[in-house]
Amino acid sequence: AFDISNLRDQTGYVTLDRGYKNTGATKSAITFLDGEQGILQYRGYSIEDLAAKASFLEVAYLLIYGELPTKEEYSKFENAIRRHTLVNEDMRNIFNGFPVSAHPMAVLSSLVSAMSAFYPDSQDEKGDVDKHIVRLLAKLPTIATWSYKRGMGHPTNYPKNELDYIPNFLHMMFALPVEEYKVDPVVAEALNILLILHADHEQNCSTSTVRLVGSSQANIYSSISAGVSALWGPLHGGANQEVIEMLEAIKADGGDVSKYVDMAKNAKTTGFRLFGFGHRVYKNFDPRAKIIKKAADDVLGKLGVNDPVLEIAKGLEEAALNDEYFIQRKLYPNVDFYSGIIYRALGIPTNMFTVMFAIGRLPGWIAQWKEMREQKEPIGRPRQIYTGATLREFVPLENR
Ligand code: ACO
Repeated sequence: AFDISNLRDQTGYVTLDRGYKNTGATKSAITFLDGEQGILQYRGYSIEDLAAKASFLEVAYLLIYGELPTKEEYSKFENAIRRHTLVNEDMRNIFNGFPVSAHPMAVLSSLVSAMSAFYPDSQDEKGDVDKHIVRLLAKLPTIATWSYKRGMGHPTNYPKNELDYIPNFLHMMFALPVEEYKVDPVVAEALNILLILHADHEQNCSTSTVRLVGSSQANIYSSISAGVSALWGPLHGGANQEVIEMLEAIKADGGDVSKYVDMAKNAKTTGFRLFGFGHRVYKNFDPRAKIIKKAADDVLGKLGVNDPVLEIAKGLEEAALNDEYFIQRKLYPNVDFYSGIIYRALGIPTNMFTVMFAIGRLPGWIAQWKEMREQKEPIGRPRQIYTGATLREFVPLENR
C-alpha cells in the first residue's frame, strides 16, 4: 500500500515539476527569452539584429565571452579556429568502425566524446579551457562532413584553412576532386543565418543536459557529447528531420494538409503530432521561425529552387493557424518548421539536419558549460516522489 507518511519521513517535501515546466535551475546572463512576447536576445542583442548583421563566429564569441569581439579579438579567435580544423587521424579508426549507415548524430556524439581521450588535459580543472573551446568549434564541422562524405561514397576533404568558417565547411561538404568548388555566397549567407538562430536558447533540453553533466565536473567534451545526444531526440533538434519527412509524406499522400491537421488534433489517439509545431516557452510565435520563413523564401528564390514541399509547409501552417485546436493551445511553427527546407535547398541531406543544428548550438552549449563552471554551481541532483513498494521482506529464490 502507498503510505504517504512513510514517504515524507524519507524524503521531506519536494516540488514535483515533471519536465521542469516551471523550475529555474540556474541564474544565467547569456540568453534572454520572453515566450509571451516572442523575444530572444543573446547577451542583450536581439536575434533579429544578430541574424541580419553578425557572422556566426562573432555570435559564438559573444555567447562564450559575453561581449562582441573587437577586430583584434575577432581575428585572434578566428585564426585560432582556422588552425585547429584538422581532426586527429587516429579518430578515423573510430570513425571507420561505424557502419556506413550510421546516423551522423550517433557518429558526432561518439567522436566528440572521444575527443576527451585525445585531449586528456580536459579533465584537469586548471587546463586550458579556451583551447578546448577552439578545438570544439574548429573540429565539429570537420567531423560532420566525414559522415556526409562517407554516406556519399566520396573521399573526405581536408579543411582548406584559407577559407572562412562557413565556406570551409561547405568546401569539406561539397568539393569534389574533379572540378574547382566555388562557394556560393547565397548559400554561405543562408547558413550563417541558420547557425546564428540556433546558437543558444537558454535552458533547453540539450543545454540543461550539458550543464547537468558538467556539474559533476565532467570535462567539456563529455558534457557536450551528452548535449549532442539530447539534441538528437525528435521532440528537440531531431524535429527538423521529422518535419521534412512529414512534409514528404503529405506530398506523397496527395498533398491534403487538412487530413494531417485533423490527425494532429487527435494526437492523443493517433499519436501523430505536427512536427515543427509547438514550443515549451514560445506561446505567441517563435521569433526564429519568422526569420527562417523569410530566409526560406529568399534563398529558394535566389537559388532558383522550386521545392513543392515549401508550398505544402505554407499550406500546413495556414491550416493549423486557423484551426481552433492549435489556436487554443497556442501552437505555432517553431524554428525547425522551415529550417529543413533551407538545408535541402543548400544540398544538405535530411539525415544531416540535426547535425547542422548541433554545429549551430555548439557555442551556446560551450557558453553555458563555461558559465556553470565559473559560477561554481553545485552538482545537479533533482529529487523525486517515490511511488514504489514500501518495505518488503526478501524471499529466497528457492521459495519464490
Ligand atoms: N501537434 C499536435 N498537438 C500538439 C503539438 C503538435 N506539434 N504540440 C503540442 N500539442 C498539444 C499536446 O497534445 C497538448 O494537448 P492537450 O492540452 O490537449 O493535452 C498541448 O498541445 C500541450 O503540449 P505539451 O506536449 O504538453 O507541451 P510541451 O511544452 O510539453 O511540449 C513540444 C513542447 C515538445 C515542442 C511539443 O509542442 C511537440 O512535441 N512538438 C512537436 C515536436 C517539435 O517540433 N519539437 C521541436 C521543438 S523546438 C526545438 O527543439 C528547437
